[in-house]
Amino acid sequence: MTDKGLETHVLGTTRFLDDLDKPHNQVGGFVFPSPVAHGIIREIDFTEALQCPGVHAILSAKDIPGVNSMGPAAEDEPVLATSKVEYAGQAVLLVAADNRACAKKAMEKVKIRIEALPPVLDPEVAFKNRDFLFNPLHIERGEINSGFDLADHLLEGKLEIGGQEHFYLETQGSLATPLPDGSLHIASGTQDPTANQHAVAKALNIEASKVEVTVHVIGGGFGGKETQSTWCAVWSALLATACQRPVRMVLDRREDMVFTGKRHPAVAYYKVGYTGEGVLTAYSSRFLFDCGYCSDLSYAILERCMLHLDNAYYLPAIQSDIYPCKTNKASNTALRGFGAPQAIAVIEHIMEEVAAALDLDPALVRQRNFYAPGSRNVTPYGQVVKDNVLKAVWQQLLTSADYEKRKAAAADFNKRNKFTKRGLALVPVKFGISYTTTFLNQGAALVNLYKDGSLTVHQGGVEMGQGLYDKMKTVAGREFGLKKEAIRIYPVNTMIIPNTSATAASTGSDLNGHAIKRALDRLKKRLNGFISTTYNIPLSSIVWEDSLIYDKNKPDIKHPLKDLVQKAHAAQISLSEQAFYKTPGIYFDKTTATGKPFYYFVTGMALTEVEANMLTGDYRLLRTDILHDVGDSLDWAIDKGQIAGAFVQGMGWVTLEELIHDNRGNLLTSGPDTYKIPGIADIPEDFRIHPFPGNPFKGGILGSRAIGEPPLMYGLSVWLAIKNALSAYAGRAVILHIPATKERIVMYASAYGKMV
Ligand code: MTE
Ligand code: HPA
Ligand code: MOS
Repeated sequence: MTDKGLETHVLGTTRFLDDLDKPHNQVGGFVFPSPVAHGIIREIDFTEALQCPGVHAILSAKDIPGVNSMGPAAEDEPVLATSKVEYAGQAVLLVAADNRACAKKAMEKVKIRIEALPPVLDPEVAFKNRDFLFNPLHIERGEINSGFDLADHLLEGKLEIGGQEHFYLETQGSLATPLPDGSLHIASGTQDPTANQHAVAKALNIEASKVEVTVHVIGGGFGGKETQSTWCAVWSALLATACQRPVRMVLDRREDMVFTGKRHPAVAYYKVGYTGEGVLTAYSSRFLFDCGYCSDLSYAILERCMLHLDNAYYLPAIQSDIYPCKTNKASNTALRGFGAPQAIAVIEHIMEEVAAALDLDPALVRQRNFYAPGSRNVTPYGQVVKDNVLKAVWQQLLTSADYEKRKAAAADFNKRNKFTKRGLALVPVKFGISYTTTFLNQGAALVNLYKDGSLTVHQGGVEMGQGLYDKMKTVAGREFGLKKEAIRIYPVNTMIIPNTSATAASTGSDLNGHAIKRALDRLKKRLNGFISTTYNIPLSSIVWEDSLIYDKNKPDIKHPLKDLVQKAHAAQISLSEQAFYKTPGIYFDKTTATGKPFYYFVTGMALTEVEANMLTGDYRLLRTDILHDVGDSLDWAIDKGQIAGAFVQGMGWVTLEELIHDNRGNLLTSGPDTYKIPGIADIPEDFRIHPFPGNPFKGGILGSRAIGEPPLMYGLSVWLAIKNALSAYAGRAVILHIPATKERIVMYASAYGKMV
């Protein structure tokens, strides 16, 4: 266990779930998955498999003591398949065995007869069949037809958007230990320990108070461990209960990739009307989201898509429908951006298309469409865009990145080179911070001060590499005048901080940081009264700094915090405090899609230049400039890392990463051999990341803004820069679907090349 956050990650010494010491009696937990994507189980017999050496238990749906359902939002996600299987990889049986080899041998002895049904793998087919997981989402504002009438030009099209594997370095896993009092301890690799706790309680038919879930740092989550981490927790808990032994279940990479969901692929049909200046008058769209076989978080994901159709742009008339298509694939889930990236890809693509049609500079067209103070500052869902810095960021980035000059140079380069073309693209982001399910915006903390002046902080946020623990130490340290070494962020534990929300929606620092600050403020207030009388310092001049207490008017007399704490303890003053925080002033009416769902927006922009070879599809990322508004950063080194990482992850999604299923629904790209994520060599040759200065957020934690997801959108600039390079080659705007793989670049280039 460690509270060191990023330091041990960097050193490579973090102990993940699979590195924890083996408890006495531990056995391994394994999953027997459905071999087909769609079918009816006619017969299953595992009596012979049970006889295999090293096998301790095999469980089917019938052996679940509680409810066979573990979905977060709807009862459409069984713990284990009963008669129906709906994707290749769906869990059918659980096996407890000494090791993976024993389990594998046993699985070969399972007799299963499945009547295969045709799988639906294409959301377009599901759409035609009206096969939706829940009611489609709809948003509209203004009169769409009058908006089109006002336009000088119309543009219609279709954009295909691929999915994305999370590829967290630590795969899904859980270690369940039955305790003597009938309760269970679950060490889980999860972003949502409370969800794990309740899912386990429900499947086992026991009270949530008997399920203790703990999480120390996890090796990445990226949304993939928000809900789907419950699976290993529940499966290992079922096996542990059946065997009365600790069961550790850690998926291997291929299992993880086949079993668990990804970013939703989507198809979008759009139509826009615009003026001769490139200003949009109307936008309508239809999105088909490929949700996979059950709902999971898809409702919230489609909702966030709906609330980001505009990205940074004022859309006077808008109408959009977003369809949750059911397919026979793993259930697609949260991944950094959570539905917003698909929406933003489409509107950014439209900006490029409009600029190309009018032969205008795309950066200028974007700026003309930005939200602006006055009549152009209300989102389609009715939230006012406050503290809008879009134009200022745009101006500053274009200047610092030398846009005009480089654009001219690229155009000149393109004149001189036939098969190598350069392209630039600017992508702004305006991303809403808060869970759109308003009640989830809450956090709690408990702080315990010890007699030596050290502090333990209990809070509900999971450290997954995003630097939350370090940031929470910064908050506690600044608030309490403590050295960072004196602070311990305790591993998240459902018995200490209950009813937590997932660490997601980029809200980790905000929700937990505010709760910690509140708890410490209260404790400090109590101790200030005591300090004032004990050390004879006026209340208004007490200073806490570097674990010392002093009077700001007598800075040479300093009292160690340790002495104060001991005195306070002897005076019977409580040294613990807890607090609760909820995000103020937000609300959202799901039936009308209106309200103020976001506490604030995060803004920034990226500008990327690529040079692509039209004969090989190979390209160089010449330079990326990012200017991002984090307010008063809690830790710029961490924020810069988050921006760089999110950019690279977003770039991977739109360029390299491609999920391919065969026509029976088997995922063919189920490992790093066939699924390519970006590596260190793929980052821009010249990579400049800067904070937009001088804009602290008053309602934020110590003036900061959330960082986790918004910069993922900057990756889109690579895709659009490639699109522009291709267009320069073709002599007209090329529609480039996502992902823009090298293969696709060559195919497009040769197709367009023939037409030139
Ligand atoms: N950074 C790292 N290194 N690993 C992760 O798993 N997850 C991202 C982002 N940054 C992630 C990450 C996602 S999807 C979210 S929502 C936020 O971190 C969650 O953490 P926060 O709310 O503390 O920013
Ligand atoms: N983001 C991430 N996770 C979520 C959200 C969200 O907006 N809503 C529910 N779970
Ligand atoms: Mo992030 S997708 O909200 O875990």
